[in-house]
Amino acid sequence: MRHLLDTRTLGRADALRILDVAEDMRDTQSREIKKLPTLRGKTVVNLFFEDSTRTRISFEAAAKRLSADVINFSAKGSSVSKGESLQDTAQTLQAMGADAVVIRHGASGAPHTLATSGWISAGVLNAGDGTHEHPTQALLDAFTIRKRFFGDDSRGRDLSGLHVAIVGDILHSRVARSNVWLLTTLGARVTLVAPPTLVPQDVTAWPVTVLYDLDQAIADAPDAVMMLRIQLERMNAAYFPTEREYSRRWGLDAARMAALPTDSIVLHPGPMNRGLEISADAADSPRSTVLEQVANGVSVRMAALYLLLAGERPTHDAQEEAR
Ligand code: CP
Repeated sequence: MRHLLDTRTLGRADALRILDVAEDMRDTQSREIKKLPTLRGKTVVNLFFEDSTRTRISFEAAAKRLSADVINFSAKGSSVSKGESLQDTAQTLQAMGADAVVIRHGASGAPHTLATSGWISAGVLNAGDGTHEHPTQALLDAFTIRKRFFGDDSRGRDLSGLHVAIVGDILHSRVARSNVWLLTTLGARVTLVAPPTLVPQDVTAWPVTVLYDLDQAIADAPDAVMMLRIQLERMNAAYFPTEREYSRRWGLDAARMAALPTDSIVLHPGPMNRGLEISADAADSPRSTVLEQVANGVSVRMAALYLLLAGERPTHDAQEEAR
C-alpha cells in the first residue's frame, strides 16, 4: 500500500489487513498499545490545513508509538497565510525528509493531488478532505464495531450480518462517505437517516437504504447507530431545520436509546454537539463507544503507518489497481 487516500477503492483484503494489524498493536495480556521500534529513522509530517483534535493527536501518538520522528504543521501561523501553495508547502516538508505526509485539507481531492502530482515521494494518508473522505475514521469505526460485536480475537472477520444506521448531516460528512464504502465492503448493511435536505443528490448510486425518519430506522433494530456532527459551519440556513426541530426529529435521546435493541451500540466521530444530534444521556451511556473510538484510532493509525512505511505489500490492493 503506497498511500491511504479513501475507502471507496480500498479492497476487502486490505481493509481487513489494516484492522488485523491494528489488533496486533495491542499487548494480548494488558491490552496496552505497544511501543515498537519499527519506524525508527522515519519521519511523519502532520500537515493540517483544517482544525483537528482527535485525528492530529492520534496520528502523532501512533507515529511516536512506532518510534518515528513527527513534525506537526498547522496552516494557521505558517507561510500558507502569506499565500504559499500546497505544492510549495509539501515540497518544503519533503526537503526536511518526510517519509509520510498525513494531510487534512478543506478541499476535496487535496490528498489525491499530493499523492499523484509527483511533487513529493512520501506516502500520503488522508486525514479528512473537504466533504470527500476520512478513511482512517471509517477504519477505526469498523474496528470498534468489530471489537464490540466479535471481541478482541476477531482477526480476519468482516462485518457481515451487522446493520449500521448512519444518522444526520450526510451531505457534508466525509465520515459518512468513508463509512458507507468501508462498512459495505466489509459486508455490513447500511441505512442512512437524515432530513431530505441533508442527503446528497448522488446517494442513489450508493449501496445503502435512505430513510428520513429516525424512529422508522430504530424500529428496524440496527446493531450500531452512528450519529454525525451537524456541521453548522458548512450549513446554509435556508435548508437546515431549526436546531430545536432537528434535535426533536433526528436527535438521539434517552427515549430513542430505550427503543433500540439492548445490545446495540452508539458511535460518534466527534466533536459532538451535545443536545443537538446527541443527548448527554446517549453520549455518556455504557453503549456509547465515543471514547473507545478515540482509543482505537491510535492502533488503527499505527497499522496504517506501519503498512505504508514498513514496506509490507498486501496480497490484493484494489486501491493500487485503481491507479
Ligand atoms: N473525528 C475527527 O476527525 O475529529 P477531529 O476533527 O477532532 O480530528
